[in-house]
Amino acid sequence: MTTFIGAKQDAWDGGQRPLFLAPMSGVTDLPFRMVARECGADFTITEFTNSTALTREAATSWRRMETHPSESPFIPQIFGGDPGDMATAAEMLAPTADIIDLNFGCPAPKVTNICAGAALMGEPDRLVNMVASIVDRIDLPVTAKMRLGTGKGENNATSLCQRLEDVGAQRLCIHGRTLRQRYAGVADWSSIKEAVDAVDVPVVANGDVVDAQSAAACLEQTGASGLMIGRGAIGRPSVFAEIKVGLGWMDEDELPWVEATEGWDELNEEGRSFAARRWCWDRYIEHSVATVGLQGKWMQRHAIAFTKGLPGAKKVRTLMHQESTNEGMAEAISQFLAGGR
Ligand SMILES: Cc1cc2nc3c(=O)[nH]c(=O)nc-3n(C[C@H](O)[C@H](O)[C@H](O)COP(=O)(O)O)c2cc1C
Repeated sequence: MTTFIGAKQDAWDGGQRPLFLAPMSGVTDLPFRMVARECGADFTITEFTNSTALTREAATSWRRMETHPSESPFIPQIFGGDPGDMATAAEMLAPTADIIDLNFGCPAPKVTNICAGAALMGEPDRLVNMVASIVDRIDLPVTAKMRLGTGKGENNATSLCQRLEDVGAQRLCIHGRTLRQRYAGVADWSSIKEAVDAVDVPVVANGDVVDAQSAAACLEQTGASGLMIGRGAIGRPSVFAEIKVGLGWMDEDELPWVEATEGWDELNEEGRSFAARRWCWDRYIEHSVATVGLQGKWMQRHAIAFTKGLPGAKKVRTLMHQESTNEGMAEAISQFLAGGR
């Protein structure tokens, strides 16, 4: 096992297990991943990127592959239907990456139509050969993220995990839904457990973990060696630290927004929510300035998510439209989030 990939763990006894920020297209840009790290995510992964575009040196795809020294390990995720392009892209990323993650879970038609993402689960031999050739080509750990199956016929995540372990994949992550389900229904953690029990490499459980309670339930049911959180972290990167506090893995006093907020003890739940989100937003802006620069589209998306559910959130779109610069927009959202005090 490498430094970044620990050994498989036994049944959960309440002890700490790594928390992963799920790769999410349009969400997990570099500054967001950096905030998630500060908020307790132990691992972050880039959004998926088209391997063929990377091999053609497409600038927009390579921009998604940017990292920062504070994001260690750096785990780019790639997808594609062409095994040669997948291996070449992995090789091109190898000098900067610590681990290469392969996407076999995306249900979007533009991906499945090229027999990539979750569609590859319907072509298990092709999927396994693809992983084997990538493992052969690069000197880095290779990991894979998949669903339970395509939803046609029997689920095959467990047998695929066994075959991927045999060809050298070092860690596997399963989202407890099928391709056909997309995001509907409830994630099936018991099927994830079946795969956890069937292999000796660590398996990470993913799907519907949103707080300490669901994190504990998922770890108890699956015995997984880690948890991956997606939608629960959109607009709320603080979820990682909240889970760690809730499970007794860290103290509330260590939360960065508690340390940074005067009079935290006197705040009610709503005031605390504003304060936590403001801290996260301000850090997102600081990280953006320090790395990729303020990106209007990214900021707009995150601003809607960071303010969702808070009183007065409806006026956030208007606030953003009133600003003519990204700096003005950043400040307006920060001021809105300061208003909860
Ligand atoms: C907006 C969005 C974008 C996503 N993009 C990716 C992606 O790029 N790569 C990937 O493996 N999964 C992607 N996913 C799936 C998530 O990583 C995760 O598997 C899924 O959301 C289930 O976890 P959750 O219940 O914690 O959200 C995406 C999900 C969402 C909601």
